[in-house]
Amino acid sequence: MTIDSQNGLRMGYIDDTINDRPSVEAAAKVPQVRISGDKFEGQVVVITGAAQGIGEVTACLFARQGASIALVDMDAEKAENVASKLKQENVTAEAFVCDIADEAAVRGLVDSIVGRFGQIDVLVHLAGIYPFQPIADHSFSLYQKVVSVNLDGCFLLTRAILPIMQEKGYGRIINTSSNTFESPVPGLSAYVAAKAAVRGFTRVTATEAGPGITANIIVPGLVRTDRIWNSHVTQTGERPLFDMALGKQLIKRHGLPIDVAHTICFIASPEAQFITGQVFDVSGGMTFQ
Ligand SMILES: NC(=O)c1ccc[n+]([C@@H]2O[C@H](COP(=O)([O-])OP(=O)(O)OC[C@H]3O[C@@H](n4cnc5c(N)ncnc54)[C@H](O)[C@@H]3O)[C@@H](O)[C@H]2O)c1
Repeated sequence: MTIDSQNGLRMGYIDDTINDRPSVEAAAKVPQVRISGDKFEGQVVVITGAAQGIGEVTACLFARQGASIALVDMDAEKAENVASKLKQENVTAEAFVCDIADEAAVRGLVDSIVGRFGQIDVLVHLAGIYPFQPIADHSFSLYQKVVSVNLDGCFLLTRAILPIMQEKGYGRIINTSSNTFESPVPGLSAYVAAKAAVRGFTRVTATEAGPGITANIIVPGLVRTDRIWNSHVTQTGERPLFDMALGKQLIKRHGLPIDVAHTICFIASPEAQFITGQVFDVSGGMTFQ
């Protein structure tokens, strides 16, 4: 990390990732966002889907606030790359390659994380897949894959990690749903069904969690990750999916990974101890349209 001598801004992988593509609503005058450097010091945060997109930015935001990070993803190269860039900035971080839909692999994963870090304070489960496929052409095997990654993974991770948190008397579980449940789009039937079930599963988790542990649901709207931005573009450079979302949003700018990451960090904080079983919509107010 270096400091830009011109304007005093911090530069480096973490800060560049957190501050990527500033997106400001026209005429909005939002004060500078301030981040406290030691808020999660001493805590171990497990983030699935951490190799890119919302997961990578969330990892950086926790890292900037002092957490140790277990980066979980099935993309070994990208996950190792994020881990090595975090380590270069003196963050305690480790990449764990795992298919979170595989029961035995998840058990091994959690053993490895506890072996490496000795504890787990926060689980942020972001890994997910969202292939677009109309129902009439949807193979059963694709349906099963979408459900297994988006829903089974949620069950497997919580089942393995909750007892560790219960023994400790502290924990934050954050699972990911999607605003496509409120605002469905064609092609996402299996995905939306699985993401709806994630809400039900997490609400029951909250009832079983016990003292010091909360379980909540993050609900991104359309978020400008590289994958979605680069795959939903016409040959003439239009992005109808983003135009449609902007039309529905009350806040007229693109949603960014950092918007989701800030909300996750709040739910994951000790001060959010009286909030459990809740749904946090981060869609720029799309739900109201
Ligand atoms: N981006 C959006 O607009 C949006 C909107 C609503 C909900 N979401 C949800 O937010 C989460 C993150 O989305 P994103 O856009 O950052 O995704 P992304 O596609 O950019 O990244 C997802 C990551 O999950 C990993 N992954 C996929 N399957 C896995 C598996 N079986 N085991 C381990 N890792 C696996 C991928 O390798 C990838 O690194 C997802 O759950 C997604 O459904 C995203």
